[in-house]
Amino acid sequence: MAATSSLSTFTVTLSAYTISLMADDRENYIQAQADAASARPILATVFNPAGPVGHSDLFQGRQRQIERILSAVGQHGQHVILFGERGVGKTSLASLTHEFWASYAREATGFLALRYNCDPDDTFGTIWARIAELLADEYARQGRTRPTNDTWEELYAEITHEAGTPHSVRRLLDLTGEMLIIVVDEFDQVLDDTTVQQFASLIKALSDYLALTTLILVGVADTVDDLIEDHASINRATIQVALPRMSQRELRDIIQSRYDRAGLMASPETLDRMAWLAQGLPHYAHRLGQEAGFSAVDRSSPTVAEDDVDRAVGVAVEHSQESIRTAYRNATVSPQPQALFKTVLLASALTPTDELGYFAPADVRDPLHRLTGQPYDYPQFVRHLKHFTLSERGEVLEATGQARKWRYRFADPLLRPYVVLSAIADGTLAFPRLYELSPQVDEDDSGQPRLL
Ligand SMILES: Nc1ncnc2c1ncn2[C@@H]1O[C@H](COP(=O)(O)OP(=O)(O)O)[C@@H](O)[C@H]1O
Ligand SMILES: [Mg+2]
Repeated sequence: MAATSSLSTFTVTLSAYTISLMADDRENYIQAQADAASARPILATVFNPAGPVGHSDLFQGRQRQIERILSAVGQHGQHVILFGERGVGKTSLASLTHEFWASYAREATGFLALRYNCDPDDTFGTIWARIAELLADEYARQGRTRPTNDTWEELYAEITHEAGTPHSVRRLLDLTGEMLIIVVDEFDQVLDDTTVQQFASLIKALSDYLALTTLILVGVADTVDDLIEDHASINRATIQVALPRMSQRELRDIIQSRYDRAGLMASPETLDRMAWLAQGLPHYAHRLGQEAGFSAVDRSSPTVAEDDVDRAVGVAVEHSQESIRTAYRNATVSPQPQALFKTVLLASALTPTDELGYFAPADVRDPLHRLTGQPYDYPQFVRHLKHFTLSERGEVLEATGQARKWRYRFADPLLRPYVVLSAIADGTLAFPRLYELSPQVDEDDSGQPRLL
């Protein structure tokens, strides 16, 4: 079948593309001397703490996940579910995939790539109404005419009037005769259960009919089940890609590759500090890397030093999202200076976790002891942990398990590094003591979460 052979050619092209992404292009960008005037605007563009990675050549790591997503497109009837914690880089990975298909691949293979972000009010009808419009726009943008027959027009009218069903959507996509890649991001935002079930039915139908469309559903979740309950019926039709936190090496590479472009240098120890503080979350690698870079440039130095990291920590705390700062304030506020809320939250942020971010309350004892020098025992701090899960303290922790076997984690993963950064900014903690307080991250690049 022609489609199959063009798909396999396409997959080869994609693999070449991923390999070119993996290639270390650092050499091309290193400038011999930092030029403060030019470094600043470069730092401002190459680091992007506030949004997904814009360009594929600034995208670090994630090879295994890229390959798995690509393999789905190479197989008829396979769709992708991409999930992970908030802030680990799902949208960036989906954008990379979309960018590739939308630009490079279009010329080579005639793919149409579309992308939609869900919001809490969305239903199956509203999502597909917008995607059908995006499809029509994409035809127009490419200067191509969309299908002209009556059935297509009827289906298009029905769907853009928000009355689409899994059946009509599948037929509309089929009638295009195009290979479509449709990224549906922030799928966790969808609150309506029926919509989720309809998506499962759609995936099943697309798969049964060996449609040329590949759906990529993206959302915040610990497991596929959190994103699509009752996913058993679509297990065979989906490639499920969990996106873990980034490794220490990937985080260092995010910073190093951008310093190379700006003509800045940093010692391995300095890069390690920033990567360590990021706790696997690329947002903080961008924020700290960028601010430390600015600080070096302000000193007219081509070398980012540890003092620059300290300054970057201060700015990162100040410029953090208001929601994070408020959550921290509400959780730790106390009329009694001797109250332990702040210290227990800090100890929690330094406690080793499992791969889903959970820690056992008993494990807080050790960092708490090291922080305070006091041998606090379980009953003295477990009350605080419990309070952190209640609305009066902003529910900054969430608990799972059962009585006497509770496990806790930060409800917002971005709060955990913030707590540590705040402690550095207010002088409670400093390197290298921080390394002693919390187990060292390891150095391999296995893609395993890099929790402290
Ligand atoms: N592979 C990557 N390489 C470099 N930076 C990344 C990568 N993935 C994510 N980021 C950065 O991390 C932050 C969060 O990424 P985003 O894709 O928005 O996460 P999510 O969608 O999972 O919440 C952004 O600042 C983004 O630029
Ligand atoms: Mg996202």
